[in-house]
Amino acid sequence: MIAKPDAVERGLVGELIGRMERKGLRLVAAELRTIDEQTAARHYEEHAGKPFYGDLVAFITRSPSFVMVVEGPPDTWRIVRTMMGPTNPAEAPPGTIRGDFGTVMTENLVHGSDGPESAAREIAIFFPGLA
Ligand code: RTP
Ligand code: MG
Repeated sequence: MIAKPDAVERGLVGELIGRMERKGLRLVAAELRTIDEQTAARHYEEHAGKPFYGDLVAFITRSPSFVMVVEGPPDTWRIVRTMMGPTNPAEAPPGTIRGDFGTVMTENLVHGSDGPESAAREIAIFFPGLA
């Protein structure tokens, strides 16, 4: 999971780590890091060319993110996505991260891998030394 720049700027990193830990997931790698444009382009390559792509890259690179790998049972990516809530915070129910802390789609606090392949791909981008 990535706590995006808005989450770090708002001082929500501890809250987000706490939610993962209280859920029963383990933090296995984490770093506060300003994502550069090249890394953002790799990370969001599926969105290249879409109308919101420029704003998305500008947002994710504007200040430090807190990049994490959390571990748990098989399909932990799905547990994290459930905890995040839908992409648009206006549709995210209370109890989810986006539902509790977000208001707009452009600043929706967190990124989570959307499947096992993207989890493996994204871990390799951000923590290439992790097995
Ligand atoms: P993320 O990748 O950041 O975890 O978010 P997600 O899977 O829930 O959503 P995704 O479809 O991958 O979109 C990536 C980010 O792009 C912004 N977005 N804007 N204006 C739009 O229609 C639109 N669609 C997506 C959101 O900030 C979303 O988190
Ligand atoms: Mg996505």
